[in-house]
Amino acid sequence: MRAPLLRVEHLCVTIPSAAGPIHAVRDVSFSIHPGERVAILGESGSGKTMTALSLLGLQPPQARVSGALTFKGRSRELGLHTDAAAPVLADAGVIFQDSLSSLNPISRIGTQLIERLTLRGWKAGAARSEAARVLRHVGVADADARMNAYPHELSGGMRQRVMITMALLAKPSLLVADEPTTALDTTVQAQVIDLVRMLQAENGMSLLLITHDLAMAAEVCDRAVVMYAGYVVEDVPMAELLRRPRHPYAAALLGSLPRLDAPAGEPLETIEGEPASALGHFACCPFMQRCRHADPRCDGAVPALQAVTGLHSSRCVHHARMGQMESP
Ligand SMILES: Nc1ncnc2c1ncn2[C@@H]1O[C@H](COP(=O)(O)OP(=O)(O)O)[C@@H](O)[C@H]1O
Ligand SMILES: [Mg+2]
Repeated sequence: MRAPLLRVEHLCVTIPSAAGPIHAVRDVSFSIHPGERVAILGESGSGKTMTALSLLGLQPPQARVSGALTFKGRSRELGLHTDAAAPVLADAGVIFQDSLSSLNPISRIGTQLIERLTLRGWKAGAARSEAARVLRHVGVADADARMNAYPHELSGGMRQRVMITMALLAKPSLLVADEPTTALDTTVQAQVIDLVRMLQAENGMSLLLITHDLAMAAEVCDRAVVMYAGYVVEDVPMAELLRRPRHPYAAALLGSLPRLDAPAGEPLETIEGEPASALGHFACCPFMQRCRHADPRCDGAVPALQAVTGLHSSRCVHHARMGQMESP
């Protein structure tokens, strides 16, 4: 197998708070291979954004980060200095949920795009035509006129296209997209996702898509890293996740998907109970309180991430039994 483009090992992110340390990310390891599309999947608060931010060196200043990162063959310990972490992934393109706060509100779109290239040694004239070319390519009509606009003058969908242009101008080998469509209405959501898929296929770049939406992840990605309470609970090829998840939390996510064959009006299964707290340490499986398969084996310690196959692992002591159950 080829070497991974990105390998994350034992990433931990802890943020001090008045109530005690918040363990946002707990011992997270995963890889992304060249051209692979990986989803980080989990409900709100599971540590997805903090994982991405700390890989990019963009975690809150008070956060304590540890772990190691290998990107394109270069390895680095994380958290030694926050600044030192950033250059390792400097080549990644990034799209965040909130394009309004990611773009400079008092600078024209064109200026921001052109600057992105001139910082990399482009001449101003060439940078302007390249920015306009990429804007047109991502579906912005009258790109030249749009370049004179300020961010607030554009619609949410249009701004997200500008963000994507920004991310692509640097010709990244990895695109990190954190809930790129959450702020958009459904039609525009589908357009932006189609665009991300098209660009990924065209450029052969790897994709790290962060989302709470399994349907979207399944549409776009080859692999899922399922997070719960800061832990990776399942790392699984997408087809296998849809067929036979090996962690009850992943199975519950699957159960909450609308099914094409379900009778109209049938309520969706929801995951009962409260999401686990990010405060303190667990002395049991973090999903135990919400899990219908829980038994005394789940108590006493956090289960280790165990190999199901060479390409699939689960943090559930019952993963073998889950594999024998009827698929959902
Ligand atoms: N700036 C912050 N300060 C303190 N706690 C934070 C901060 N950002 C996130 N957290 C906490 O860290 C945990 C993980 O958050 P996050 O990575 O944003 O989750 P997700 O992206 O999966 O919704 C949550 O408990 C959240 O409340
Ligand atoms: Mg998030």
